[in-house]
Formats: sequence, structure tokens, C-alpha cells
Amino acid sequence: MNTSIQFQNYASVTTPALVFAAFEGAAPVTGQPTIDGWAQGLYAAGEFTGKAFETATLYNPANLSAARVMLFGAGKPEKFDSSAARRWAGALTRHLKGRNLLDAAVVLASGQQSAALVQAMAEGAITGDFEPDRNKSKQEAKHLSSLLFLAEGGATELAVALRNGAVIGEAQNFARMLANEPGNLLPPLALAEAARQMAAETGLDCEVLDEDRMRQLGMGSLLAVAQGSAQPPALILVRYQPEEATSDVHLGLVGKGVTFDTGGISIKPSESMEKMKYDMAGGAAVLGAMRAIAALKPKVRVTALVPAVENMPGSRAVRPGDIVRSLAGKTVEILNTDAEGRLILIDAITYAKQLGVTHMVDAATLTGAITIALGAVNVGAFSNNAEWQGQLLAAAAEAGEKMWAMPMDEDYKDLLKSAFADMPNIGSRGAGSITAALFLQEWVEDTPWVHLDIAGTAWLDEAKPFAAKGPTGVGLRTFVALAQSLGS
Ligand code: BES
Ligand code: MN
Ligand code: ZN
Repeated sequence: MNTSIQFQNYASVTTPALVFAAFEGAAPVTGQPTIDGWAQGLYAAGEFTGKAFETATLYNPANLSAARVMLFGAGKPEKFDSSAARRWAGALTRHLKGRNLLDAAVVLASGQQSAALVQAMAEGAITGDFEPDRNKSKQEAKHLSSLLFLAEGGATELAVALRNGAVIGEAQNFARMLANEPGNLLPPLALAEAARQMAAETGLDCEVLDEDRMRQLGMGSLLAVAQGSAQPPALILVRYQPEEATSDVHLGLVGKGVTFDTGGISIKPSESMEKMKYDMAGGAAVLGAMRAIAALKPKVRVTALVPAVENMPGSRAVRPGDIVRSLAGKTVEILNTDAEGRLILIDAITYAKQLGVTHMVDAATLTGAITIALGAVNVGAFSNNAEWQGQLLAAAAEAGEKMWAMPMDEDYKDLLKSAFADMPNIGSRGAGSITAALFLQEWVEDTPWVHLDIAGTAWLDEAKPFAAKGPTGVGLRTFVALAQSLGS
């Protein structure tokens, strides 16, 4: 899908559909008597109210080159922030292609000609266009071929915003494609290959540590998870080095990359187990963020680390009660082989510290408990450093990703005790997402760090008007906004 912006009056634009955002309360004022008269009539009759995603169409409008004019409901005007604009553009895209209208132009009213809204609309349009149908033999779902935005002033600022939004939207779709790939088609080495290819295309550096190398280094915790699978593990590293850095920060992005999570010997119930293909959604978000960062070039150093494994039961699988030695030297008693995410993350976190990362964020589909706490709305954000967490949450707010700061009081540590090793890999009952975060913190130590538990938010069980069912790509936009805020 091609998005572009032009600075000209809409009357002479030839397009199948000329779209206006129409808000609750009053008809849009376009300055074209035919459109204004038509819209006012619709509002006066109560036939169109401007509720989100409501539509009305006028065919063959007089004095316009467009084949039709469409009002697309945008809800309450005071609530039309960039999140609402992103959803509006996503729903518009899905509406248009559902009616086989594959080219359209959006007329931006003067209040909509801001960089934040234009970027969000480009993101929404592109992510709205995504379909999780890669593995169907026929791709029957339609795709928009072009969406043109029309503004009045000659603001190059809006053109930059549009491009930023397009880069981020495409990167998010890349992450969603990866997260949706089933375990058989995207085992750890295939994820590594996808990272390599992405890096080659975008000019990033990519290195993949194989099983032998990880054994030499002493990543006993990560390898314990991998040992039950016939699929070899990989630690994927992608590096972005700015030409000139304006920040001393070396940002480390760590993403959980369990390409399929059966639970291992502590096997999961079969109900919905197929969803565990998205247990690498954190890794996918990190790789997608690197793809966008490569194009947007923030002036800060960023290293991505994706520990990739498959968690399987079998005669070689790690057992409950096994004790393993992590890269940092601390030992872990594996009481539940289904708490595998934290076991691979701690070795990646230690390695990130060895690489000189100064500030860290990890994204992981880590616990079912975060869904109990926050549902599918907010990401749980855990941190050892209030200032760094504040920066991350500010980036999330700017990027329109809902995240909620979760507690990490020392008191919860009492739930994490092993009689036989330095740490158990699970806590006792209650506060499951918090004890998982506290476990990670034992390896993070003092490096400023935020842990994002995205288990509840990385997958949409039902399609939304603005997004297909399936992977969401959550986390990616926040990572990009964070890198941009650090190196601007
Ligand atoms: N990948 C799962 C968490 C998960 C659950 C992600 C549901 C997405 C949807 C993780 O590896 C896991 O199994 N966690 C366990 C931890 C428990 C054994 C302490 C869980 O949440 O049940
Ligand atoms: Mn698990
Ligand atoms: Zn898992």
C-alpha cells in the first residue's frame, strides 16, 4: 500500500473516493456547497451522527473530480487525538477495501494537519491493511493500493510525519507477520534467518550465536529450555550504530523468542495451545523496531537481542527439579518447565550487559497472570528505575500504546525462594507477573530496565474495525518512539 500527501485543493483530485472525517455534533464544513448541503441534511435528519466508523456516501458530486464523497465517522471531536486518528484511518482502510475501493484520498481539515495526527493516520492505514493470510493458498483479502492525504499548507513537516508513520506501520506489519507464523514454519533458525534478511535489507549488523557458541559462553539457562527440542536455538543480535550519537545511552532491546511453547514437561492443556506460536511476539516487536530504527536513524546506539528457542517435552527435555547454571553464574531450580521465558531472558539480559548496554527494555509474552491483571488493554510495565520507567511510559503514550506501571516491591521477593539453588523459576501462588519480573531483576541488577509483559496485548482474539484478528505488534511503536526521544 502506498501512502502519500499532497498540498492542493481536493476539488480537482481524481479519486474513486474522497473521504472526510465527520464528527459527532455538527456536519463537516468543506466549503463545497453540494457536500455541505448534503452533509447538513444527513445530520439534521439524524441519518448520520458522526459516531466512530459510521459511513455515508454521495455519488458523482457536482464540481468535483472524485467519483464519490464519503463521510467517515470520527466520534467526539475533542477525543480525536492521535490514538483515535490511528484507529480511524485503520477502520477506514478496512472499510474501503471491504467495498473494493482500493484507492482513496483523505481530506485533512485544518485541525487535522498536525504531524502527530498525520503520522498516526499513516500508521493506522498501513496496519489496518494487514491480513494474516500469508499461509492460505490464495490471498483473497484485498489490499488498498493507495491512500492520498490532502492538506492545504506546504508543510514539509507533514510529509516527514507521513513517512515516519509509513515506516513504523510497515515495521509493525512485519512484526505481526513473524508473530503469526506457526511453530513449524518459523523455528528459531528461521526467525534468525528472517532477522538476517531484514538486517541485510536495512543496512543493520546481524550476528547469530549458535548452540555451540552459547555453550562455550555458559548460557546454561537458555540451553536448558532448548534441549527438549529437535530445533536448535539461536541468540539473535541486531546492532544499529548511528553515524553520530547525541546520547550516551546504549539502548538494549530484549525480546522473548519462544517460537512455540508447549510448556515442556510441565505441559500446557491442549485448549488454545495453538496460540503459543505467538510466544515470540516480543522478539518480533524488537526486530520490527530495529527495522524502523534503521530507516528513521535516531542518534542513539541500539542493540537488539532475541533469544530464540522452542519449548518441547521429550526424552532430552529439562525436568522439574533440574538445576541449571545461568551465564551470570547464578543457579536456578526449574520447578516448572512452562516458566521458560524468564530462563531464556536472563541469559540474554546478562549478555546485553556484557555487550555494554546501559539501558534496557524487554518485551515478553511472559505470564498468563498479566491477562488476569490488565486484560487485553494495557501492557504491564515493571521497572527497577522510576526515571527510566517514566521515559518509557512517556514514549508509550506518544506512540499510543497503553502501558501500566506495575509494582515490584521487595516484599514480593519472599515468594521466590529455592531450598536447593540460588533461585526457583516460579513463585508461590499469587502475583505471578510480579514474581516473574522480580526473577528477571535478579539478573538485571542495577542497569536501568523496564520489563514489558505483553502476554495479554500481543494477540487480538477477535478482529477490530481497525485491525485483523491475530498478532498486534505491541511494543514496537514504543521502542521506536523511545529511541527517537533518546537520540533526537
Ligand atoms: N508463554 C507463556 C505465557 C502466556 C500465557 C503467554 C498465555 C500468552 C498467553 C509462559 O511461558 C508461561 O507459560 N507462563 C506460565 C508461568 C507459570 C508456569 C509460572 C503461566 O503464565 O502460566
Ligand atoms: Mn511457558
Ligand atoms: Zn512462554
